[in-house]
Amino acid sequence: MIRVAIIGAGIGREHLRAYLQLPDDYVVPVLCDLDAARAAEVIVNERADPAVTHVTSDFDAVLARDDIDLIDICLPPHLHFDISMTALQAGKHVVCEKPLVSSLRDADALIAAAEAAGRVLTPVFQYRYGPEIAKLRALIDAGFAGKPLVASIETHWRRDADYYDNPWRGTWQGEQGGAVLGHAIHNHDLLCAILGPIKRLSAFTATRVNKIEVEDCAAISFEMESGALATSSITLGAANDTSRFRFCFENLTAESDLLPYTPAAGTWTFTTRNRDQAALDAFLAGQPAPPLGFVGFFAALAQALQNNGTDAVVAMDGRRSLELVSAIYESARNGRMIDLPLGANAALYNGWLPEKTGFLE
Ligand SMILES: NC(=O)c1ccc[n+]([C@@H]2O[C@H](COP(=O)([O-])OP(=O)(O)OC[C@H]3O[C@@H](n4cnc5c(N)ncnc54)[C@H](O)[C@@H]3O)[C@@H](O)[C@H]2O)c1
Repeated sequence: MIRVAIIGAGIGREHLRAYLQLPDDYVVPVLCDLDAARAAEVIVNERADPAVTHVTSDFDAVLARDDIDLIDICLPPHLHFDISMTALQAGKHVVCEKPLVSSLRDADALIAAAEAAGRVLTPVFQYRYGPEIAKLRALIDAGFAGKPLVASIETHWRRDADYYDNPWRGTWQGEQGGAVLGHAIHNHDLLCAILGPIKRLSAFTATRVNKIEVEDCAAISFEMESGALATSSITLGAANDTSRFRFCFENLTAESDLLPYTPAAGTWTFTTRNRDQAALDAFLAGQPAPPLGFVGFFAALAQALQNNGTDAVVAMDGRRSLELVSAIYESARNGRMIDLPLGANAALYNGWLPEKTGFLE
């Protein structure tokens, strides 16, 4: 049984809901938020047992408890590094919401701290988990796909002024980035989870939707190490929220549904090219349906913490996502193609915040 303290009751609410669906693996003795009333409301509405899950606003007291194994950080991005480091140094495993931290330097420091403490550090990428992505992976593993050719991703979501009515959102200091960092990061993680590492990329970013400091539109081209090519189109100015993936392999085209936040759900189409569609359909009919989103994410983490599985998100996945963000911002600012991987001599290794921040007119 893994004993969890959730820190932050915003998205922390959905983490709690997922833990409650995994009662053989997890118990949540603490929900910590500076806004104790918000945390108390979450306990009531998620029907958590108040005799089991206690509300507090005292993070130091949570860390001092030796009956907590895992600190689950659901705080605004600018707090992730310090709180994760403190928790690792206190000997806790750490789950940290995306974006893990705000620079490759900080990611490397946290990964080193986790290794030194012998603790697990896991960034949250829950989009990977669920039945349709599991089907795609199974088709690839069973040889139905063949060579990857191209992929396209759309992160076309809607965010209006009310979304930015929150002191940390829309600013470089508070949010640490825009739609590339805060919204498309999941879909880019999924791209890499399916097609492997990126070799180089080229990007444009723009602020065209809301009056914010950070970007809310982007167009990115990727060359994968496999030779496959991919494109990512991002906006927060769509009429509604949709995410769409299309993967074309030598022998298979896989197309997602339009569900924005659970791309592994809905109904994907898997169409074979020059092969037996009936055989492919029969193969898919025999596939299990693993749990979706946060439940799948935490189930895989529980397996990893029990040394019993390799499907969990690992700290290097968080670093890779930030490497991508660093490369995208560097490419967009300087009009250059950027080669990956990025090491300590990369231009934005210490952070991607612009030297001057302010509202763009
Ligand atoms: N994985 C996902 O799909 C997903 C979705 C939404 C948000 N997020 C990420 O989750 C993080 C939090 O986002 P959110 O939307 O929940 O933000 P939020 O502002 O709604 O909630 C953050 C909470 O943290 C509390 N808080 C702030 N400082 C604190 C401290 N020092 N100690 C205790 N509590 C403190 C605040 O009172 C607030 O209730 C962000 O990094 C965001 O990018 C991830």
